[in-house]
This record gives sequence, C-alpha cells and structure tokens, in this order.
Amino acid sequence: MKQKLKIIALASLMLTEIIGHRALAQDGAALYKPCAACHTIGGGNTVGPDLKGITKRRTNDWLVQFIQSSGKLIKSGDPEAVAVFKQFNNIPMPDNALTVDQVNQILAHIDGGAGGAAIDPRQAALQHKVDSMLKANSPLDILAGKELFNGERRFENGGASCISCHNATYNNSGKGGILAKDLTKAYSRLGGFAGIKGIIAFPPFPSMLVTYKNHPVTEIENAQIQLFLKNADEQNPAQPLVEKTWFLHAAMVVGLVILLAITGLWFRRKRLSVNHVLLKRQEKYSK
Ligand code: HEC
Ligand code: HEC
Repeated sequence: MKQKLKIIALASLMLTEIIGHRALAQDGAALYKPCAACHTIGGGNTVGPDLKGITKRRTNDWLVQFIQSSGKLIKSGDPEAVAVFKQFNNIPMPDNALTVDQVNQILAHIDGGAGGAAIDPRQAALQHKVDSMLKANSPLDILAGKELFNGERRFENGGASCISCHNATYNNSGKGGILAKDLTKAYSRLGGFAGIKGIIAFPPFPSMLVTYKNHPVTEIENAQIQLFLKNADEQNPAQPLVEKTWFLHAAMVVGLVILLAITGLWFRRKRLSVNHVLLKRQEKYSK
C-alpha cells in the first residue's frame, strides 16, 4: 500500500514537472534573441555564419552538440566544427545551457526565417538611433568612444574600461593593457561594426565575460566604441605598435654596441698581454 502511494506521488510529481516545463518553455524566437548578436538569418555573415538554411547543411545531431557546446565539439576534432571555427577567425562561440528541445525550437525559428518575433517599438527606436549614429561617424561619438575605451569616461553600468586589458592606438597614442589582443586593427579583423558589437554585448572570452556580465555596456556606448575602433583602424594602415618596436630595436642596437665595446676591450687587453709576454721572452734571449 505504502509502496503504491509512493509511486503515485512520484508519478504526479513527474507529471507536474513535465507540464510545468512545457508551460515555461519559451518559443524559439525568444530563445534565439542572444544568438542575433553574432548571427543573422539571411542577412550575411557577421561575427558568426549566416544561419539561413543551416538545418539543410548540417545534421540535427551535430547542430544540437555545436549549439550546446561548440568548444567540446571542436576539441573532439570534428572536422566540420574545426573548419567553421577556423573560417571565423578562431572566435569561440559561447556555450549555451539549452535542452535538446530548446535547441530544436531555435532551429524551427531559424527555418521559419527572421520574421515571427514581435518587434518591441522601444527596441526599434533604439536600433534606429544606433544605425544613424554609425552612419554619421560624428567626432563627438568617436571622442566618447575613445574616452570610454580609455577610462576617461565611466560606463553607465560601471564596467571596467577596455584599456585595463587592451591597447588601441589612436592619434599616435595608446598605452593600454597587454593582457589581451591589441584592438587597433580589430575593426577590419572582425569584419566591421557587427563583429565588435557582438563581442562587447556577448563576450565569448571568459575574463571579458566576467567583467561585463553584471555591468553591461549599453547599446549607445557599444556604438561609440565601434566608431572609435573604426577610426583607429583607418588611421593606422601600417603596424600599430611602431613606437614600441622602434624602442625595442633601439634598445637592441644600444645593447649590441655595449657588448662590442666590452669584447673589443677584452680582446685588446688580451692581445696586449700576449705581446708583452713575447717581448719579455725576446728580451731574455737577446741578453
Ligand atoms: C558571441 C558570438 C556568438 C553568439 C552569441 C552565438 N554564436 Fe553561433 N557562432 C559564432 C561563431 C564565431 C561561429 C563560427 C564557429 C566558431 O567560431 O566556433 C558560430 C557558429 C554557429 C553555428 C555553426 C554554423 C555553421 O555554418 O556550421 C551554429 C549552428 C550557431 N553558431 C548557432 C548559434 C545559436 C543557435 C546561438 C544562440 C543560442 C549562437 N550561435 C550564438 C558566434 C556566436
Ligand atoms: C578583463 C580583461 C578584458 C577587458 C576589461 C576587456 N577585454 Fe576584450 N578581450 C579580453 C580577452 C582575454 C580577449 C580574448 C582575446 C585575447 O586574448 O586577446 C578579448 C577579446 C576582445 C576582442 C576580440 C579581439 C580579436 O580580434 O579577436 C574584442 C573586439 C574586444 N575584446 C573588445 C573589448 C572592448 C571594446 C572592451 C571594453 C568595452 C574590452 N574588450 C574589455 C579581455 C578583456
């Protein structure tokens, strides 16, 4: 009797769990939202590949594994995963804590095209503002981006300045962090605005993610930094760290001269003393 009750209790618990799960399950369009920072559906490649027709190019099993943890699949040596990772500049795609069900909802949304998700009018207005900012390339926005990058202006949500880890050379100056990649040429390296935007909004690098997870950079700030990095890129067609390498070369030359001077002196002394010995010997024989 007791056993039966236990089974009934367990079964009803499982049932409510399943029903609850279904009710909670968000639709694919909502689940897809964070993906849109790096992907389009039919709008071309950005940080990541255009996902249009992806369910015809890859098997469902592969897609589930890749979307849950692309890193695991790449590490396993899967040739398709390794190839697409290399093609997209070795930028890792962040892992997603999604169930198989949820991944399939996202894939159904991708199959259905970009439409479907209701557009929030406030979000649309903001998007419009950001688009026109990027087009205008105004000196004020570039300056704001530079100041945000360099920590001369605080981020609205209090995130750390980029300069604590990165350098970007602009107007021949830049002495930022060397913890992470130099961003002077990031704009062209990452294929334009979208690449930078995606990385700031959803950093696929652990240390950067931790920094901004609870202090998100706003979309306006993000656009200002995109403008700053675009202009830094355009200003620096050649090597971004000319000054630093120049200094290094100068130091090497100075070092070499000192070394030559020291060995030169040593050789001369040695030669002198040898002659001195010879001289003494000759003196001895000539006596
Ligand atoms: C921070 C940027 C970023 C985010 C966010 C992101 N991805 Fe990606 N994704 C990439 C990059 C970059 C690649 C290229 C492969 C690589 O570099 O690992 C990729 C590759 C893929 C691929 C393989 C495409 C192919 O041609 O084989 C799929 C599928 C995919 N992403 C789906 C998603 C889904 C679904 C989400 C949201 C749950 C998502 N991505 C979120 C950056 C991102
Ligand atoms: C806590 C350190 C840290 C901070 C702060 C930080 N980043 Fe990063 N960032 C990284 C690391 C680590 C990487 C991974 C690549 C590397 O090692 O250089 C990275 C990579 C990037 C990349 C990709 C570079 C490439 O070409 O592959 C961009 C773009 C970027 N960061 C932009 C920014 C911007 C803009 C800010 C300021 C809003 C910022 N980062 C703040 C640590 C940081």
